[in-house]
Amino acid sequence: MEEVVLRDLKMSPCLEIYGCKETGRCVIKDDFQPLYDKLLACQGVILASPIFFYTVSSLTKIMMDRCQSLWVKRYWIEKTPFEKKEFSRKGLFISVGATKGKRLFEGVQLTVRYFFDALDTELWKCLFYKGLDFEGDVLEHPAYLDDAYKAGADLVNALSPES
Ligand SMILES: Cc1cc2nc3c(=O)[nH]c(=O)nc-3n(C[C@H](O)[C@H](O)[C@H](O)COP(=O)(O)O)c2cc1C
Repeated sequence: MEEVVLRDLKMSPCLEIYGCKETGRCVIKDDFQPLYDKLLACQGVILASPIFFYTVSSLTKIMMDRCQSLWVKRYWIEKTPFEKKEFSRKGLFISVGATKGKRLFEGVQLTVRYFFDALDTELWKCLFYKGLDFEGDVLEHPAYLDDAYKAGADLVNALSPES
């Protein structure tokens, strides 16, 4: 299990130059390169992002866009049919937002589903928590923390035994 804090990485946004077209690997040499290897090597992914303007944070979106190289690998190079619904990995997505609107997590669900798809990852479970604005707010809700801990453990148990 390895934690990657996106804020600590130096990552260019995707420049849409399609340097990944032949090999499925992004040609921009920065901290995305080791992350790409980790994403390909893992069996399970837990992605956590706050809601920023009804989608993921910009740091998360930069990482997602750089994974267009994985989309190219999957659909252009390996020619995976778009209908294929079996995935090699499982993913858990966790998000929080400050407000309590009914549609707070609608946008992010599509974004994450199709990001995970590029990563050959089933969107196994989402955890969404509203009404959390500031650092430490979640401590008022121990049930949320218990849920997240349990979901992480369940994800590990749901992965294939060789992982
Ligand atoms: C740039 C920015 C955009 C935000 N957009 C939304 C939003 O659209 N809806 C919402 O409910 N909260 C929004 N928030 C509030 C954050 O989702 C909220 O503060 C969250 O708890 C941050 O999580 P973190 O402390 O784990 O980073 C926004 C905050 C920032 C800084």
